Amino acid sequence: MTSDQKIRESVASLFENIAFESEPAGLYDPLRYMISIGGKRLRPALCLTAWHLFRDDEPEEVLQPAAALEVFHTFTLIHDDIMDRSPLRRGCPTVWKKWNGDTAILSGDVMLIDAYKRMAKAPAAVAGEAMELFSKTAAEVCEGQQYDMDFESLASVPMEDYIRMITLKTAVLLAASAKMGAVLAGAPAAAKDALYNYGLELGIAFQIADDYLDAYGDEKVFGKPIGGDIVNNKKCWLTTEAQKRAAGTQTEAVLAAALESEADDPAQKSAKINAVRAIYDELGVPQAALDEIRRYSARALAALEGSGLDEACLGALERFADSLVGRVK
Ligand code: IPE
Ligand code: IPE
Ligand code: MG
Ligand code: MG
Ligand code: MG
Repeated sequence: MTSDQKIRESVASLFENIAFESEPAGLYDPLRYMISIGGKRLRPALCLTAWHLFRDDEPEEVLQPAAALEVFHTFTLIHDDIMDRSPLRRGCPTVWKKWNGDTAILSGDVMLIDAYKRMAKAPAAVAGEAMELFSKTAAEVCEGQQYDMDFESLASVPMEDYIRMITLKTAVLLAASAKMGAVLAGAPAAAKDALYNYGLELGIAFQIADDYLDAYGDEKVFGKPIGGDIVNNKKCWLTTEAQKRAAGTQTEAVLAAALESEADDPAQKSAKINAVRAIYDELGVPQAALDEIRRYSARALAALEGSGLDEACLGALERFADSLVGRVK
């Protein structure tokens, strides 16, 4: 099994050397910008980790599809930041802020196409399977993003609907990244399915961690504005759990009033964030989120039972899971 360090180095060099078309600069500069400002690059790392469960070499036929997963993910972020009115990404101005909304739409579009070109470099024997997995996943991410927007105008959503929404907008891409490594390596069906389910459970844990950090993280580490979900009436895990816990108590109306309060200017924004966070604290929601992240992370590892993978492989996947959810410990 290739070491975690070697995989990290491969991912780093993949993005140091990545090239996009040069002209027109107004179209392609935002792509270079988004890649150059970094990000955790979890999806290509997960794809390469899964590949190395079966193979020791590292041809372009796996590196380009691994890059495709990150390029696709980054495209979704460019459009997500327009939809979420978010000014900061990876600690830097978002594309719509730095350029404008029209540029963010079109550069995002061409970035999606670039992702497809890279995915098409998959080994010929499995290219059909890889493209089908990728396309299915890409459509599901759009479905999840639509539910996410639909939920903004609802007073509350059942936890089941929230989990379904994050499964689509976030977890399926991590699931597909894990499975993709196995598909590209020509692995057996049982391993491909187990890796998909591992990535799916891990992806749910990851989005709950993102929701938690959106309210309780450190902006310098998180790279996104703290409290953005509260200000934008996003139905995140914390909101959904708080509403569940407050139902039928005196806190229910207080929570509803805080969530519905105006947040137009900076003073109103910080008042709203503080008020909602105080209610979350009172209801024990942050601790419950941490418990839930650990529960989904354990489910990810349990999904690997029956995969046929040996101890060394399971160890690598366990370390990956720990690194992913470890940022909220
Ligand atoms: C952000 O993903 C969007 C979510 C699915 C929560 P990441 O947290 O992986 O973002 P980067 O790529 O590291 O910036
Ligand atoms: C992001 O969800 C999911 C996708 C980009 C598909 P969020 O809106 O929570 O992601 P961040 O917090 O902006 O990274
Ligand atoms: Mg969003
Ligand atoms: Mg967002
Ligand atoms: Mg978020």
